[in-house]
Amino acid sequence: MANSRSGETVTERVVRVLETFNADRTVQTTAEIGRRAMLPPSTAHRMVVELVECGLLDRDEEQRVRLGMRLWELALRGSRALRLRQAALPFMERVQARLREHTQLAVLENDETLFIERLSHGRAGANITRIAGRLPLHASSSGLVLLAHGPEELRERILAGRLEAVSPETMTDPKQLRRLLARIRHDGVVVAPGTIETVSTGVAVPVREGRGEVIAALSVVLPRDTPTGGAVKELRAAAAGISTAIAAQP
Ligand code: PHB
Repeated sequence: MANSRSGETVTERVVRVLETFNADRTVQTTAEIGRRAMLPPSTAHRMVVELVECGLLDRDEEQRVRLGMRLWELALRGSRALRLRQAALPFMERVQARLREHTQLAVLENDETLFIERLSHGRAGANITRIAGRLPLHASSSGLVLLAHGPEELRERILAGRLEAVSPETMTDPKQLRRLLARIRHDGVVVAPGTIETVSTGVAVPVREGRGEVIAALSVVLPRDTPTGGAVKELRAAAAGISTAIAAQP
């Protein structure tokens, strides 16, 4: 791909433009995109025009820009996340119907927890996760499961890095975390009260590909002092069902 004068490829610039959008910033002007992507105004203008033309960005009547539906369509087509989500949904619906709390599915992506599905309930408690949203691996119940079962190299890198607290109760001591991760591998579940928000408890179990590798975490977010036994049972049954459904996928 041709390089710009700064040595950056066109692809790198396109990614930089797309990455200026996030869950809290879904609509921007071309000038804002240019500023955030650190591009000269004329380059930003040209790139936005081209990306709108090919449908990766959409522009409304007020000339404001958002991510295009075509981008969503391409991203989902044949993606592993979509296959996993399809296999998981009937089981997630069952968990959600029985517990009436937030039920979510997360995968490991670039050293973070990426939530690919979340079912909610009108009367369920607080929950800060969003579909396509991320949380640090050491903080949420899903992240802890993914970290516990992830490659050793990843675990060591995360434990040696900056372990920021999301809430006052997020575990940030590497020694304590290492012990917790070993316990999660042993127990096949984590109950994490207050590690994301003081008012809630995350409960998560691993989802395996067949009987092998852990490919996702299935979790529920409960109001802080809810008994967790029923949730653990439901999550385990659902995770086993998802593994079977994945194995049966063509
Ligand atoms: C969790 O998975 O631990 C979790 C996620 C979101 C919340 C609370 C807990 O809001």
